[in-house]
Amino acid sequence: MKTSTALKKINLEISEFEERLFDHSIVEITDEEGVIIYANKNFCKISKYDADELIGTDHRILKSDEHSPEFFADMWDTIVGGKVWEGEIKNKAKDGSFYWVKTIIIPITDEKGIKNYVAIRNDITKEKEIQERLLRMEDELLKQNVTLLSEVEKKSGALLKSERLATIGTMASRIAHDLKNPLTIIHTYADMLTPEILAKLDPQDREKWFRLQTSVLDMNRIIEDVLDFARTTEIKKKKTSFLSVLRLAMNHVKPSYGIVINLPENDVSIKCDARKMEGVMSNLLNNAVHAVDGQGEVDVEFASDSKNLTIKIKDSGPGISEKDLDKIFEPMYTTKTTGTGLGLVICKSIVEQHGGTISVSNKPTTFTITLPLS
Ligand SMILES: Nc1ncnc2c1ncn2[C@@H]1O[C@H](COP(=O)(O)OP(=O)(O)OP(=O)(O)O)[C@@H](O)[C@H]1O
Ligand SMILES: [Mg+2]
Repeated sequence: MKTSTALKKINLEISEFEERLFDHSIVEITDEEGVIIYANKNFCKISKYDADELIGTDHRILKSDEHSPEFFADMWDTIVGGKVWEGEIKNKAKDGSFYWVKTIIIPITDEKGIKNYVAIRNDITKEKEIQERLLRMEDELLKQNVTLLSEVEKKSGALLKSERLATIGTMASRIAHDLKNPLTIIHTYADMLTPEILAKLDPQDREKWFRLQTSVLDMNRIIEDVLDFARTTEIKKKKTSFLSVLRLAMNHVKPSYGIVINLPENDVSIKCDARKMEGVMSNLLNNAVHAVDGQGEVDVEFASDSKNLTIKIKDSGPGISEKDLDKIFEPMYTTKTTGTGLGLVICKSIVEQHGGTISVSNKPTTFTITLPLS
């Protein structure tokens, strides 16, 4: 049926011009019950139904699950009340595909009341798709923004921490540096006591002198640690026997009765900064001896392949609690009364400067270092 004929049938006065406009829209006319009595070619095209399949049914044939029952109730309330309803509807075509239409439903009345409804629709599927894509993108951007914000927060936290550490480092190194001179004087004067003078001291005073000497050495080591932490000097790599590095490190290990330290029998030649590696080994060995505290063993093992040397330092001590495993490589973390908590930080920094890695595991407590051979 032509639009004009259908409109005439329902006594709608419409100009030729407006009829032309209808040709570009999706037009549907229903009776007062909502039963379709007219569907133009655009309606058939978009819904993929033939006109005779649409006529005689109601608009529920096209219903998608997009809208709530309240949405349709509101629409019906409006048009039954004689008012024009406008909105956007998602419909389902005959082949199951969906389309969006901007809809205006006009109730046509005569003296007896509502006679028909004329629905004029325009396809807005593309706009909706773009809108949905934009919403998805906005959603994605919001999510990325949240991730970025937490990333920035984390990074600025780390920066703040490293800035704070740098300040502590500068202050500590200044204090450590200033303490070095008076300490050297104490050390020198204590050293001036010759064996003859010492022999004249009674055992108690001699013990005091020994304690003075070891305290001076302890202080000196702490100062060196702080200075090492503050100044990350460049490493100077040289071909070195790692067993000799380990033996030199043993000189700085506090001997403890009842603790056996087993050194490896094999040697590995490696390019490294021997002085710094000596410091790494002595800190790890001292930590192990301190952990064993009494009767026990510390084993040092070397293993190598064509590229790396792996050093394992195992001890029979109680190990490190799970919650502290991550913390022990953080500056100032110590469980010792005389510790600086810088030992492992310095070890890690030196090992990483060499392009290596350091890690720890329990049962038995094992510190594993891998170092590239060259
Ligand atoms: N072999 C180990 N067994 C158990 N705990 C360990 C072991 N090695 C390190 N730790 C723990 O890690 C902490 C940090 O060690 P780190 O060497 O950094 O500092 P420190 O030994 O406490 O102080 P410093 O090295 O300055 O004397 C120690 O206080 C200790 O709690
Ligand atoms: Mg230590």
